[in-house]
Amino acid sequence: MVFSSGRHFLQIPGPTNVPDRVLRAMNRPTIDHRCSEFARLSLEVLEGLKRIFQTSAPVIVYPSSGTGAWEAALVNTLSAGDKILMFETGHFATLWRNLAKDLGLEVDFLPGDWRHGVDAKALEKTLTEDGAHAIKAVGVVHNETSTGVTTRIPEIRKAIDRAGHPALLMVDTISSLASSDYRHEEWGVDVAVGCSQKGLMLPPGLGLNAISEKARQASKSARLKKSFWAWEPVLAANKSGFFPYTPPTNLLYGLQEAIRILEEEELRNVFARHDRHAEATRRAVRAWGLKILCADPEEYSSSLTAVLMPEGHDADDLRGVILENFNMSLGTGLGKVKGKVFRIGHLGDFNDLMLAGTLSGVEMGLALAGIPSSKGGVAEALDYLQSTRKGKINR
Ligand SMILES: Cc1ncc(COP(=O)(O)O)c(C=O)c1O
Repeated sequence: MVFSSGRHFLQIPGPTNVPDRVLRAMNRPTIDHRCSEFARLSLEVLEGLKRIFQTSAPVIVYPSSGTGAWEAALVNTLSAGDKILMFETGHFATLWRNLAKDLGLEVDFLPGDWRHGVDAKALEKTLTEDGAHAIKAVGVVHNETSTGVTTRIPEIRKAIDRAGHPALLMVDTISSLASSDYRHEEWGVDVAVGCSQKGLMLPPGLGLNAISEKARQASKSARLKKSFWAWEPVLAANKSGFFPYTPPTNLLYGLQEAIRILEEEELRNVFARHDRHAEATRRAVRAWGLKILCADPEEYSSSLTAVLMPEGHDADDLRGVILENFNMSLGTGLGKVKGKVFRIGHLGDFNDLMLAGTLSGVEMGLALAGIPSSKGGVAEALDYLQSTRKGKINR
């Protein structure tokens, strides 16, 4: 193992860099999860999460990865044999579909090319044709982390409303929450799935469900088997700041600090920062002469950029060269795009110079790996970052 000085660059699209403030907040003695001090902590974070999801309805926190929160969304609202409409936007949409099938749901999976988000027109057509309302839920990945494509959820909501269909709307916000604008209540989402290790800047270990009153009502008649994932016992215990099992106390300390950090910056500034870093990244990619996987500029992701490799070159070889030479991890291609793309994560605790370092590592790596590409991507990005710097002094 070659010794690497300095800090590792963790530029995968999650887990993201954990800020020192969050690390320090977690570095405390674990307390009794049945004492009043714990109740104060959990009541604060449960309220804070509502503000992050932009909802007044409860948010449920599980000691789990995001996959657990996917399962919780389904088992709490649906019954065996129920139909759910899902969309092949990429690897994570496919995994969620597989999970739904494993649970005994009937999945209608509309095909996609992994370069676009959910087609709202196709959704509306499918729902309009479902006059008997056999479809009980629509499951959409907001930001497809495998492709860097963001579906516009308000368009999805409008399509469901135009079809006059009562299906529940479930949205995976795993790599959009606290990075891109997400308005749970205003956008009429019934269950949002989230987790800790992306925009919330925490280590992995927390799975989240933001729910709506309609979803809670649906949970009363949902018959899929559940015990650990059941919302009601958690909601009942959460009222007084407790959990029906031993909660991940130190992650909750971290979450408390992460919410404070996000609110100090203010969510609208957090989103603007992500948009700006994403745009700078895309400018670099174009200057290198490479292509962005996301085919529609309206659907560009602010959390990550997936970059297509020139024909005949393997993305994982490039990632290996960059890791070995510059101690930087970039996201691998997943599923159908394995080897064909690498992903630059620009979400979470991130700033202009971290992006400059990231793009420098990619530019040097492209040259070292002999990938046909041009220089000048970093310069393009720096020009953009400099010209859009708030508070810049024009002399
Ligand atoms: C969009 C999306 N959904 C779901 C998941 C699964 O989450 P986890 O790996 O935490 O179980 C991920 C993981 O990266 C993701 O990006």
